[in-house]
Parts: sequence; C-alpha cells; structure tokens
Amino acid sequence: MKNKPIIAPSILSADFASLGSQVDSCLKSGGDWVHFDVMDNSFVPNLTLGPMVCKSLRDYGIEAPIDVHLMTYNIENLITNFAKSGANLISIHPESTPHLDSSINLIKDHGCKAGVVLNPATSTSILEFILDKIDLILIMSVNPGFGGQKFIKNSLSKIRKVREIIDSSNLDIRLQVDGGINLETIQAVAEAGADTFVSGSAIFKSKDMKQTITEMKKLTLTSY
Ligand code: DX5
Ligand code: ZN
Repeated sequence: MKNKPIIAPSILSADFASLGSQVDSCLKSGGDWVHFDVMDNSFVPNLTLGPMVCKSLRDYGIEAPIDVHLMTYNIENLITNFAKSGANLISIHPESTPHLDSSINLIKDHGCKAGVVLNPATSTSILEFILDKIDLILIMSVNPGFGGQKFIKNSLSKIRKVREIIDSSNLDIRLQVDGGINLETIQAVAEAGADTFVSGSAIFKSKDMKQTITEMKKLTLTSY
C-alpha cells in the first residue's frame, strides 16, 4: 500500500542567493519536504551544498523535514554532520560506500530515517538484505548530478518492480522518485507506484509555485 503522497521540492534548482526565502516559499506553496542534494564533484560531476547550509536553514526557521540525498564519497563524516545539522532523512547510494549495511546503521544510530538510492543502471537486487532496515527507496529517473534533465522512461518498470517488492514485504517503506518529475511525468510515476516525488526545476522555475505543486498533488491522487 502506498503512503500518502509527498512532494519534495529539490532546492538544487532554487536561487542560492536567497535560499532561506526560496525554501520558505516552496513550503508555503505546498511542498512537504525539503529535498537537499549534496554533491562532491567526485561521485557526481557537480558541487553543491554541505551540512552548514542545512544548519543555516534550520537557524532561519525552516521546520519541515529535510530529506538529504548524498551523492558523494566518504559519506560517514557527512552522515554524522548532517544529522547534527538538522537532517531528518538521509539517503545514500550503494556505490558510494564499501559497507552499505553499516552506513545505514550509522544513519539510524543518529536518529535519522535511512534511504537507499538506485541509479538508473543499479539493480534492485541490492535491496534484498537491507530491506528491513530502511525507510525509503529512491529511484533515480535521471543520472545524478544536475537538475533539469529529461525523465528516463525505463524508470517506470523499475518503480513498478520496487512497488511489488515493498508491498510483498509488508514493511513501511516510502518509494521516492527523483529526476525529470514535472506536470507531464508525475502521473505516470504515481501510477507506477511512487508515493514521494522530488521535483526541482519544474517547481522553482515555474511562474506560480503554488499552482504547480497543487496541480502535481492532484495528478498523483488519481492513482489512489
Ligand atoms: C539530480 C538530483 C535531483 C534534481 C532533480 O542529481 O538528485 O534532485 O535536482 O531536478 P529536476 O526535478 O529538475 O530533474
Ligand atoms: Zn536528489
């Protein structure tokens, strides 16, 4: 069974010069979680935000859940620092750590929820022995690194497959999708089984964030 739909605006597409007010307005426009893309110019070819920025958003008064998506190597240090800086959920790529199980334990030990991310070419088999430890599975529907890319259609069959895995496990795990989610793609993604939707450029570059998020929510609800 799917959880109720969550829209997680990705602040990668926000104007970093006024990040606090941009995050505030995407939340006031109906965004549920703040999706926080962390890149190290090594695991992916781009460099973005660190724990200090997460702490600044908390100090600014942002109270919504902060959903950290780590696209870096050397994740142990970052897991600890993001947990201390106000993250609620931390998602990691299996390819970024030699010890996936213990990295998940580290996230949980810090009191955060844990997510595991599947890149477009990553098999779902990685989930088999960690399923009972995680709170979220994130399916990448673009290759990670940049906002504004085109949705990879093959992701839909992976979403369906992971929805079956979650449902047959009877575990309470969210199914999140990230990359190319907009008013044209979100309904198919919801129908395939996702319940948590990351969207960057379609929200932050839209003329009216509130209208866009409201419309996105409506389109996800057709599959409930
Ligand atoms: C890509 C990031 C995404 C990205 C999504 O590496 O993980 O969160 O910002 O951006 P859009 O919605 O523009 O594809
Ligand atoms: Zn992301």
